[in-house]
Amino acid sequence: MKKASIAIIFVILTSFLFSCQTKETQSEQEESSFDWDGLIEDQLDKAAAQYKHLSTLVPEDRMPKTYYQDRGELETSNTGWWTSGFFPGTLIYLYEGTGDKELWDLAMKKLEILEKEQFNTGTHDLGFMLYCSFGNANRLESNEAYKEIMLKGAESLATRFKPEVGLIRSWDHGSWQYPVIIDNMMNLEFLFWASKVSDDERFKELAITHADHTMKNHFRNDNSSYHVIDYDPKSGEIVGRLTAQGLSDDSAWSRGQAWGLYGYTVMFRETMDPKYLEQAQKIADFTLNQPNFPEDMIPYWDFDAEGGKETLRDASAGAINASALLELAKYVDQAEADKYLAAAEIMIQSLSSEKYRAKNEELGGFLLKHSVGHLKANSEVDVPLTYADYYFVEALLRYKNWYL
Ligand code: GLY
Repeated sequence: MKKASIAIIFVILTSFLFSCQTKETQSEQEESSFDWDGLIEDQLDKAAAQYKHLSTLVPEDRMPKTYYQDRGELETSNTGWWTSGFFPGTLIYLYEGTGDKELWDLAMKKLEILEKEQFNTGTHDLGFMLYCSFGNANRLESNEAYKEIMLKGAESLATRFKPEVGLIRSWDHGSWQYPVIIDNMMNLEFLFWASKVSDDERFKELAITHADHTMKNHFRNDNSSYHVIDYDPKSGEIVGRLTAQGLSDDSAWSRGQAWGLYGYTVMFRETMDPKYLEQAQKIADFTLNQPNFPEDMIPYWDFDAEGGKETLRDASAGAINASALLELAKYVDQAEADKYLAAAEIMIQSLSSEKYRAKNEELGGFLLKHSVGHLKANSEVDVPLTYADYYFVEALLRYKNWYL
């Protein structure tokens, strides 16, 4: 080859390599220069103002549930409804994130009406109701009265555990015999807390037994989970693998997968037993490898729903996933952690964008649009929900506390 040709090839090659390197450096710079501090602080400040507004709309003896934008109507619940702990819990998180004492005071008012649920033995949701509320209050300001309320609540929850089945019963309504839903994994953190405070190992043992039976019975070969497993209350045999809120008995209801991911991450944190970490990672990998996962990583309401513009998303599942992945990333090796953290970052950025994040007093002060409570019952469809807001704010705080 002539000297001139060699020189030309050399110039072309080096300029190609140089341009690739420049692009890579640019994207690396974009990544590292993203202002996470700014995003988190801005989101927390705006959320604090929004929740103060929401507080002005909620009657003293009620908790907010959702808001119907089209008719400007706030729907509220009594404190026996499963979501009653999220509103005070979010106010407390926002107090923690902003230092604004007014938020704490607003939360305290709501704890007064919630207190009586410690005696409620008709629900498995006492972890959501009492630990997300009193638990967070007590975490920030240790309080003997709150501890007593929660310990009584843990006793109430424990009454729903039948040794013959090895699980806490979820629902008393419906035609099931002894239904257990994947969501129930979310109440176990409360039981671990109760064991630590009371020195009574029973709560912890019960949580472990429940988690082990759920791990054995609730998951399919592809690591997705059923929503409801129905048991024979005498023998503990499985009598049905079903759904209540999902697309079909065999589908992967998005929020159910998120509850499982969060629940087994907590199980690992509380026990350090690697089998729970493995389970959490299996659920995370099932979720993140979904072919039907939109680019913004906010899932369709069910992973088996046909995707597309018209298909509803569930922002609540997105928020729960984001918060759970931020914790899971702390327990795994660097490559896995990077994968989970990158996914959680996309979820947080999506939820913070105009598509999901309500502005000012839009949505009555709720934070996130586009959640789905129970589509098949035509209940809470494409609306804001208190638990979507709670796990979104939790994810913001976790990011701020663990990654900034
Ligand atoms: N635990 C009820 C729900 O996720 O809708």
